[in-house]
This record gives sequence, structure tokens and C-alpha cells, in this order.
Amino acid sequence: MASTAVMAVLLAGSPLVLAQTSFPSSTGVVASQTSSSAAAFVTNIQLSLDDYWDLYIGPVANASINTTVTPTPIPSSSLIPPPSLYYPSFPSGQQVPLQSQNESWKFPKDFWYGVAGASYQIEGAVKAEGRGPSIWDRLTRVPNYVVTNDTGDVANNNYYLYKEDVARIAALGIKTYSFSLSWSRIFPFGSGAVNEAALAHYDDVIDTCLEYGVTPMVTLYHWDLPLFLQNAYGGWLSDKIVPDFVAYANLAFTRWHSKVHYWFTVNEPIVFCTNYPLPEHYFTKTDIPSIQQKYYCGHNVLLAHSEAYHVGKSINASLSISLKHNGGYKIPRTNSSADAAAVQRAWDFQEGWFSDPVFLTGDYPSSLKSYVSTFLPAFTDAQKEKINGSADIYAHDAYTSDFIMAPDSGIEACTKNESHSLFPSCYNTTKLYANNYWALGPASDPGSPWLNKATDWVPAFLHYMQDTWKPRGGVAITEFGISEPYEELRKDLASILIDPIRSSYYVDYLKAILIALSEGVDVVGTLAWSIYDNLEWSQGYGVKFGIQYVNLTTQERYFKASAFEYVNMFQVYQEK
Ligand SMILES: *[C@@H]1O[C@H](CO)[C@@H](O)[C@H](O)[C@H]1NC(C)=O
Ligand SMILES: *[C@@H]1O[C@H](CO)[C@@H](O)[C@H](O)[C@H]1NC(C)=O
Ligand SMILES: *[C@@H]1O[C@H](CO)[C@@H](O)[C@H](O)[C@H]1NC(C)=O
Ligand SMILES: *[C@@H]1O[C@H](CO)[C@@H](O)[C@H](O)[C@H]1NC(C)=O
Ligand SMILES: *[C@@H]1O[C@H](CO)[C@@H](O)[C@H](O)[C@H]1NC(C)=O
Ligand SMILES: *[C@@H]1O[C@H](CO)[C@@H](O)[C@H](O)[C@H]1NC(C)=O
Ligand SMILES: *[C@@H]1O[C@H](CO)[C@@H](O)[C@H](O)[C@H]1NC(C)=O
Ligand SMILES: *[C@@H]1O[C@H](CO)[C@@H](O)[C@H](O)[C@H]1NC(C)=O
Ligand SMILES: *[C@@H]1O[C@H](CO)[C@@H](O)[C@H](O)[C@H]1NC(C)=O
Ligand SMILES: *[C@@H]1O[C@H](CO)[C@@H](O)[C@H](O)[C@H]1NC(C)=O
Repeated sequence: MASTAVMAVLLAGSPLVLAQTSFPSSTGVVASQTSSSAAAFVTNIQLSLDDYWDLYIGPVANASINTTVTPTPIPSSSLIPPPSLYYPSFPSGQQVPLQSQNESWKFPKDFWYGVAGASYQIEGAVKAEGRGPSIWDRLTRVPNYVVTNDTGDVANNNYYLYKEDVARIAALGIKTYSFSLSWSRIFPFGSGAVNEAALAHYDDVIDTCLEYGVTPMVTLYHWDLPLFLQNAYGGWLSDKIVPDFVAYANLAFTRWHSKVHYWFTVNEPIVFCTNYPLPEHYFTKTDIPSIQQKYYCGHNVLLAHSEAYHVGKSINASLSISLKHNGGYKIPRTNSSADAAAVQRAWDFQEGWFSDPVFLTGDYPSSLKSYVSTFLPAFTDAQKEKINGSADIYAHDAYTSDFIMAPDSGIEACTKNESHSLFPSCYNTTKLYANNYWALGPASDPGSPWLNKATDWVPAFLHYMQDTWKPRGGVAITEFGISEPYEELRKDLASILIDPIRSSYYVDYLKAILIALSEGVDVVGTLAWSIYDNLEWSQGYGVKFGIQYVNLTTQERYFKASAFEYVNMFQVYQEK
């Protein structure tokens, strides 16, 4: 595709300058330039932040509430537990369900439990007080990229309603709130000038948590890359992201280290790296082959994360800094040696991609390395040394499990064939047992086909994490949850608020953690995804993960039954 479009890039200093559309891959390899003389078309148009919004995003929707709201007391009528729905009830009626307590199970006293959200999914107020656009402001303008064409313009209006949000979880007895910072609020163009209004906002979010006795946990990057950095050099595809991310991390650690103990640098790099290639024609073109892009991203994530980790520890050595892994437990579909080999490849190309470098070796697992070393530069010894050990806990967003099997053609026919549909990972997955009839657990909403309730495998998964990556600070489940099937189709409040699949997911998952704890796995905390229904990325608002329902017309929040079930497990099992 020949393109004559021009893109804005920031040259030294603040003026925005229009320059050519493609950038070379800067992680060592300079990809061949397809357009000949684009650099001839450089001009000196200066763009303000508003111009940048107008050029790339266009009009944004506003919320009717656009100033910070003082919380109202949470009415006691909203804190009445639901009728028992999961356990046999003795007696029945409206109450926290009784359960016969297993005396072998305990959550330790310092086990933390909380809820999580992320900036673009909940904040709204996207243009307020100097925020710059992120790639998600742009992605939500690509027709059908989000199946509903929903945007995060207003979302849950958490930017103005956060005090109420913190007050509500505190009223329920939840002790931890994990949220992410919007990088492009703090640095509207990703680097350079800092937006003081954003710092003041997050100061108050953190202070509000502390005021309510809620421990704040902060994620620096939950997918909302400043759009400017994507356009300027390809975002995570370029190693230029490393100093920009580290400068951002440095600012956040410096400002909040005395109030925030738990930090996560990046959220689920497998997912945001696999988001590359971004849709054509909406972002600056890159010459990196599509199939390789996610590995360029992963490479720069490891460099940026590890650098940020050491900066954070040098500011305050007592901080707990980690990254949030994802993937899922991998069950061999049969006992064949081919399936066993496929399972190992699945670990290597998922969790192992980031976990082996950070916890074991400073470098990729061998099967992955044999592929990426054909185009990525090797990590230097100094880089390996920085990467190895750069996480204090093993944080995993462990939602589900999959059966893994070898490709129909066998593994080798795939690894030798770049056109194979499963290349380069060369393992296959399914949710069905080998009888091809039963799924491994109840399905979630059809909008999240990757997710079934598979809590039976949680103890094995927790053992695997501890035994494989041997984290010094234990294992944390930093997201877990399920989209209640067809919840969007329920239109009256009373039907929405009883969510039996999600409730049983949390109860069974927490029991599985109790089993693993009783067997000696050092599980240190859990964060339920999510604090409330929010923008489920490309699935829009119709796929719901919240333990609270939000009426997006009125922005009123309501506790669902699962919120009480979640908290009740700790009321029953946590040591006082
Ligand atoms: C949203 O509010 C801003 C600032 O008040 C205003 O400039 C813009 O036109 C509003 N957008 C819409 C769609 O009303
Ligand atoms: C806030 O909303 C009011 C009423 O809708 C509007 O008049 C005002 O311009 C808005 N302020 C900002 C900063 O958007
Ligand atoms: C999303 O927008 C595209 C383009 O405007 C349109 O064709 C499509 O029907 C919209 N989808 C929905 C669910 O509204
Ligand atoms: C280091 O961080 C911890 C946890 O956030 C905090 O309690 C402590 O005060 C910080 N140390 C200094 C010197 O600020
Ligand atoms: C694999 O072997 C184990 C131990 O012999 C057995 O319990 C299990 O059912 C077998 N799994 C399958 C899928 O055949
Ligand atoms: C990585 O670090 C661990 C412990 O922190 C150490 O045992 C291991 O030897 C290191 N690996 C390499 C390749 O340096
Ligand atoms: C992957 O597994 C599915 C069945 O779950 C099968 O239909 C498909 O052919 C397999 N793909 C390959 C490439 O092996
Ligand atoms: C490579 O995979 C493609 C796509 O599945 C297939 O059409 C082709 O025959 C395979 N080539 C070889 C040499 O197996
Ligand atoms: C959400 O609020 C609107 C406006 O008050 C109301 O019409 C609607 O019934 C509410 N939805 C639910 C599920 O309560
Ligand atoms: C109680 O917990 C222990 C240890 O996890 C387990 O072996 C036992 O089966 C549990 N008992 C019941 C009744 O669930």
C-alpha cells in the first residue's frame, strides 16, 4: 500500500512537526523502506494538544457530571447480603449463606484481597484537564474494532466519581483497590511536559483510598499507550519506548512511593503485544512483518519493565514491584508425548515469554528463542542481568485453563512451515475434553469465548507457578473473574444483581486457593476483576465482569450478589 499521508511526530522540544509515515524497526534491525522519498515531505505545522485531538480523534462525548463528587454515605439498605444462592441454606432466607467451615483452611492474616479496574476502561473524562489521547481513544474510532462501537469517552465517569467508588468498596469491607494510571493524562504526548492536573488527580485518588483504609495498588501501563508515541516511533515496536516508559515510571515512583507499596509496571504484555499489528490506515505504518511485531513489542517490554523496576527500587528499596502475567493453566489433552511437548511449547510461548526472563534466566525459553533469534537482537549480558530477578512477586491474571494438544499435522511439520496456521507457537487449544463433548467448565458470556470457569485446576496452577518461577515474594492472583453469561440481556435490576455463575466462580476459586495454601503454596493476595462493569475493550460495555452493576444512564452503582460472596469467603476464612 503506497501512502502519501503525513504523521505528526515530536522533534526535540515541543512543536509538533509533520513527517513521513513509516519508521524503521529500531530494535537492531532496520527493515527495508518501501516508500522512496517520504522524508522529502517534512513540513513545520505546529499542533496544539487540541489540534491533535481534532486530527486523530474528533468529537468526544461528555458526562453530565464533570466535577469531582463528594461521596454520599453508602445506605445500609445496599449492604444487605443476598438470599443464599449457592449453598444449601439452614435456615433459608436473606442472609450470607452459611457454610460448613473446613478447619484445615485459612487465609493468613496478611493476605490481601481487593478489586481492580484500569484507567481507560473506567475513567471517562478523556479530554478533561489536559489528558492527551491514547491508542485506545483512536482504536475506539475504528468502525467495528469495538463490536458495539462503544468508546471510553465517559465510561464509568470514575475520573469524577472515584471518591464514591472507594467509599463503596470500603463499605463492603474490601481492603485493596488496584487501578492503573493513564500515561497520557500525566504526559499528554507520552514524554516531555508533565500535566500537573493529572498528578493532583491521582494524589487525591491515592489519598482517598488511605482515608478509607483501602490499600492502593498502582499499575503503570494497562494498554492505553499515549497515541503520540505510537505515531512517533511505533510505540512498543521500538526501543525508543524504553527511556520514555522509564521516565514516566520514575515520576510515578518518586511522587507516590511513600503512599503506594505495591506496583505493577505492565499489565498482561502477551495481550497488548498480540494487539500488534494495529489496524491499517489508522496508525503510522511500520515495515516490521506482522507475525514478528508482537515479539518486538515483548522485547521492548522486558527492557522497559526491568529498567523501571531498578529505578523504582533505587527510589525506595522496600517497594514491591512486579508485572502482571497472563495465560492460563495448560492441561495436556491426552497422555501422548506429542501433547506433552505441545504443553511445554504453550508455556514457553505464553507465560514463559515473560516469566522465564524475569524469574529464571534473563532470557527467553529455548523454543521461543530459537524462533525470535532469527530477527530480534540477543539480549546483552548486562540486559539479562537487569531482567533476571526484576519482580518481587509472581503476579498472574489467572482466569481460566485450556486443554493443549499438538497440531493435527504434528509439531515438527508446523515449526518447519511458516505458513502453518499455528506457526510459530505450534500448539493447539480447546475447551473440550478428549471426548469432544464436555467443556472443562461452564462457559462465560459468548463475548469472552476464551473464558470458562475451570476452578478445578487452580490448585495445580498455583503449584506450577510457585514451583516453576520460584518467586521470592509469593504468588498473587492479580485478576480473576468471569463474564456472567448474557447478563446484558437482563434489563431489570433485580435480575441483574443475582449473578450465580460469577458467584460460584469466586467461591470455588477461593476454595481452590485455600487448598493450595493448605498444601504449602505461598499465595499472598487476590484482586477480583472487576470493581464494576466497564468497557471490556473490543467487546464494549455489553460483556460484564463487575461485582457491581453500573447503570450507564445514571452512573448509579449497585452491588451484585458476587460482591458479597467474594467478601464472605474472607470473613469466614481469614485469620483475625
Ligand atoms: C464536551 O465538552 C467540551 C468542553 O466543555 C466541549 O468543547 C465539547 O464541545 C463537548 N462535546 C460535546 C460532544 O458536547
Ligand atoms: C461541565 O458541564 C456543564 C453543564 O453540562 C457545562 O456547562 C460546562 O461547560 C462543563 N465544563 C467542562 C469543563 O466541560
Ligand atoms: C459500527 O459502526 C460501523 C461504521 O459506522 C457500522 O457499519 C456498524 O453497523 C456499527 N456497529 C454497531 C453495532 O452499531
Ligand atoms: C518506602 O515505601 C514504603 C511503602 O510505600 C513507605 O512506607 C516508606 O515510607 C517509604 N520510604 C521512604 C524513605 O519514604
Ligand atoms: C493420563 O494418565 C493419568 C495417570 O495415568 C490418568 O489419571 C489420566 O486420566 C490420563 N489422562 C488422559 C487424558 O488420558
Ligand atoms: C537469575 O537469577 C537467579 C536468582 O536470582 C539465579 O539463580 C540465576 O543463576 C540467574 N540466572 C542467570 C542466567 O544469571
Ligand atoms: C486444532 O484443534 C481443532 C479441534 O479443537 C481442530 O478442528 C483443528 O483442525 C486443529 N488445528 C490444527 C491446525 O491442528
Ligand atoms: C505449510 O502449511 C500450509 C498451510 O497449512 C500448507 O498449505 C502447506 O502444504 C504446508 N507446507 C508443507 C511443506 O507442509
Ligand atoms: C437505568 O436508569 C434509567 C434512567 O433512570 C432507567 O430508565 C433504567 O431502568 C435503569 N436501568 C436499570 C437496569 O435499572
Ligand atoms: C478440608 O480441607 C482439606 C485440605 O484442603 C481437604 O483435604 C478436605 O477434603 C476438606 N474437607 C472438606 C469436607 O471439604
